[in-house]
Amino acid sequence: MQSRGFLCRTRSSRSRPRFSKEQTNAPCAKPRTRLRFILRWTVPLTETAVLPQTYEARPFAYRKRSLHCDRTPLASLAAEHGTPLYVYSEEHILGRLRLFQQAFAAVPHTVCYALKANSSLALIRLLAEHGAGFDIVSGGELARVQKAARPALKKTVFAGVGKQIPEIDAALRAGILLFNVESPAELDLLASRAELLGIPAPISLRVNPDVFAETHPYISTGLSAHKFGIDINQARALYRRTAKSKWLVPRGVSVHIGSQIRAVDPFGAALARVRDLILQLKEDGLTLSYIDAGGGLGIEYTEAAFDPEAAVAAYAKQVLDATAGLDLHLLLEPGRFLVAQAGALLTTVLNVKQNGDKTFVITDAGMNDLIRPALYQAHHQILPVKQSSAATQAVDVVGPVCESGDFFARDRQLTAVKPGEVLAILDAGAYGMSLSSNYNTRPRPAEVLVTGDTARVIRRRETHRDLFAPEIL
Ligand code: LLP
Repeated sequence: MQSRGFLCRTRSSRSRPRFSKEQTNAPCAKPRTRLRFILRWTVPLTETAVLPQTYEARPFAYRKRSLHCDRTPLASLAAEHGTPLYVYSEEHILGRLRLFQQAFAAVPHTVCYALKANSSLALIRLLAEHGAGFDIVSGGELARVQKAARPALKKTVFAGVGKQIPEIDAALRAGILLFNVESPAELDLLASRAELLGIPAPISLRVNPDVFAETHPYISTGLSAHKFGIDINQARALYRRTAKSKWLVPRGVSVHIGSQIRAVDPFGAALARVRDLILQLKEDGLTLSYIDAGGGLGIEYTEAAFDPEAAVAAYAKQVLDATAGLDLHLLLEPGRFLVAQAGALLTTVLNVKQNGDKTFVITDAGMNDLIRPALYQAHHQILPVKQSSAATQAVDVVGPVCESGDFFARDRQLTAVKPGEVLAILDAGAYGMSLSSNYNTRPRPAEVLVTGDTARVIRRRETHRDLFAPEIL
């Protein structure tokens, strides 16, 4: 039953904490307290309210049977901006960033948001304004940081197994913090470009620690069978080679073992191997300044309870224990953890149809808008924006794209829905819009950023004219 994951709670509006907008934005408020504050804010104002069990993890909750993002009703956003529509909570994203910053407060660190998770210019600017640096993987992502948060370039690291000359040149000129180098050939290319431009290249080797982390095979990266990084056993020799070059400045080591990793031990295991390498390099007379622990901390996509604060704490313990005493500046590259649960994709039901035993709910969003279910068989909760007491039934929620893989849920218990009703697909803030496409010549959705009870469009809906713009007849 769709309602299985909900719990009834009563909270009088009198007990609700009162605070002004200034207070919510106060940068010096104690992060832990402040996050609890924000999360409490998602509690409905009605005398008797229904909350998702996992309410602490998401900014989405029912108030008077209407699903809200923070204090903004999703039905109004759908009516005003149309669907499919991505909706994100600013407070939630900042809360997640603060959780990270707080968990690592004891050591010098920078949270370098992996902007592949959601590369919206508005989110880049928002995160930069609150202290984030960035992890980029292309010249395009570099250009995004240059456009939205130029001062953060000096806190930006550049990973990727196939960096090209124009991208390398642009990053050298931009003065980024580090190139996370993924092969010996890249090291040579980087040295030659640095010499040509007369700009020394700050580098760290991204090592492949050969550590297994439980996740979907498409997003696991830390085994030698994967294309990522440099075999950790080759790294010492390569650093020696680097030290001889006038144009390469070895400044750090980096590691990233995969994404959506829920059991945190592999993070510690990978960093323990990196630690050994750093100590060997010290013996060789090479003292580094940075250790980059990568990203990858997972979230809960189902109705199961999830405590993001506990998840970060467990992760931070692994990272801090493994790096203790190294006296290096720690770089962290979370993507999903910061933005996934802040976002939902709103979609309107076009049609409900029966084929044999199966009931299909056909929506106006498709796999081109959110590909995770099709690509990774990922589970995303789907909630009606207007809460209903209708009976639930098993349905497939599918898009209009001409592929049988175009589904958001299969055999999912959903309260009966009618054409015109709006559904919210949860946890769509990461790898949703950033993996979207124009397949079937479908314009991409608009995006809206909610701040409390206000919302602003951060990307308008595409038009057919936008889609045809680069084409030549
Ligand atoms: N750093 C590096 C070098 C990465 O390759 C990635 C993600 C991250 C950081 C951020 O990882 P996160 O904290 O978001 O897990 N499209 C897939 C996820 C692909 C992740 C690719 N690399 C999905 O939708 O699940």
